Amino acid sequence: MGTLFKNGTVINAGDSFPADVLVEGEKVVLIGQKIPNGNHKIVDAKGKYLMPGGIDVHTHLELPFGGTISSDDFNTGHCAAAFGGTTTHIDFVIQPKGGSLHDGLEEWHKKAGHKAMIDYGFHLAITDLRPEVMKEIPSLVADGVTSLKLFMAYKNVFQVDDATLFRAMMTAAEHGMLIMVHAENGDVVADLIDKLLAEGKTDPYYHAVSRPSAVEGEATGRAIALAGVAGCPLYVVHMTCDEAVTQLRLGRQRGLPVMGETCVQYLFLTVDDLKKPNYEGAKFVCSPPIRTEYDQQILWNALRDRTLQVVSTDHCPFWFEGGVKGRIAGKELGKGNFAKIPNGLPVIEDRMKIMWHYGVNGEHFDANRFVELMSTNPAKIFGLYPRKGTIAVGSDADIVVWDPKKRETVSARTHHMNVDYNLFEGRKIKGGVDKVFLRGSQIVDGDQWTGHPGQGQFLKRNAYAAVL
Ligand code: URP
Ligand code: ZN
Ligand code: ZN
Repeated sequence: MGTLFKNGTVINAGDSFPADVLVEGEKVVLIGQKIPNGNHKIVDAKGKYLMPGGIDVHTHLELPFGGTISSDDFNTGHCAAAFGGTTTHIDFVIQPKGGSLHDGLEEWHKKAGHKAMIDYGFHLAITDLRPEVMKEIPSLVADGVTSLKLFMAYKNVFQVDDATLFRAMMTAAEHGMLIMVHAENGDVVADLIDKLLAEGKTDPYYHAVSRPSAVEGEATGRAIALAGVAGCPLYVVHMTCDEAVTQLRLGRQRGLPVMGETCVQYLFLTVDDLKKPNYEGAKFVCSPPIRTEYDQQILWNALRDRTLQVVSTDHCPFWFEGGVKGRIAGKELGKGNFAKIPNGLPVIEDRMKIMWHYGVNGEHFDANRFVELMSTNPAKIFGLYPRKGTIAVGSDADIVVWDPKKRETVSARTHHMNVDYNLFEGRKIKGGVDKVFLRGSQIVDGDQWTGHPGQGQFLKRNAYAAVL
């Protein structure tokens, strides 16, 4: 007995078509017309879309950062992701200072294994590239970790210098791995922070002033140039502005294997949100900072013209009122000093519905491009395709039954993320999740959770993945 999705419309990146979809075990086994009911469990998808589960390739669950720890773990974060239609994510393992890459990997496996409710993979963020660590990099491929992340910012925390970045790129090129960068010039940011604080400019808004778009553009251009020299594929994370997108477009025009993502927040929020009174601006503090309406238009254009390949979240939530009611410390840490506000935002649950409402209903792109940005391209770029990222015979049955007529007012009162505010509070949207299946098992049914901890699997990803 399998599960038979009847009367729905399949939406993949390449096409949309009315079809029944039969799932047996964890896989899609048949896609066709009028498949007999047999003794299958029937899911009536009339009037609904069947889309491959969302893949969020940029998350930070339970991340020690900014003097505290991000507030969603592999249980709450997974549950929230699934309610939003995301069935796979890739989290960033951080190499401990003085430790090995495998020390970090082991730590993240411990955090995830018993809690996981959706499927997950890991990137490895290198913070300390000693010679023995360089030698360790190729062995990650056998562990299913095929992407390396280097931070060009967060001086004295995660930041690496250009020599480190370049060496990692050379090794990645040799072993079919992908290099990812957080592109901001961390040295310049550190000096600007000192200057602003010395001038008594301590409010959350000055976080954005300390990280101008030119600083992101410069680092993006530098990373692209170095990737060109190393001959290594590059993926620039959380791109926010004209200066950075222009560098990416130029690199691609030159034929370099360089790609980029933006995140939901950069398409909707502006620097004015950081000016909200009563310290509320701290709710919007992330790096790079949110920018201007002009930059938002640049990002939408870059999603349409394929300069950008992916929309992810950089989900890294911190309580607004932390340190009380049994909560870990959060954004309150930065009262009186913007540089101490933990950087990061809660987005994992809202990605698909916000991008559908404004992207598809708002006619920035069609439903196929939506699937491509949310699921198919992430799977291709990060070595998971065609197991993930498409509804096809032989693929994992990660299926989102999407109701294009569903209406919702987004709110922290109803979201599942472990955080006391929502970036999109009060927005009225149309289109959202009806049901979610992970490898054939139903995990979300309307507002009911039907999954269980430990159900999510670690995904070993392939090297030599696509460059789009
Ligand atoms: O503000 C952010 N983005 N926090 C998470 C860490 C990172 O830079 O991705
Ligand atoms: Zn970053
Ligand atoms: Zn991040």
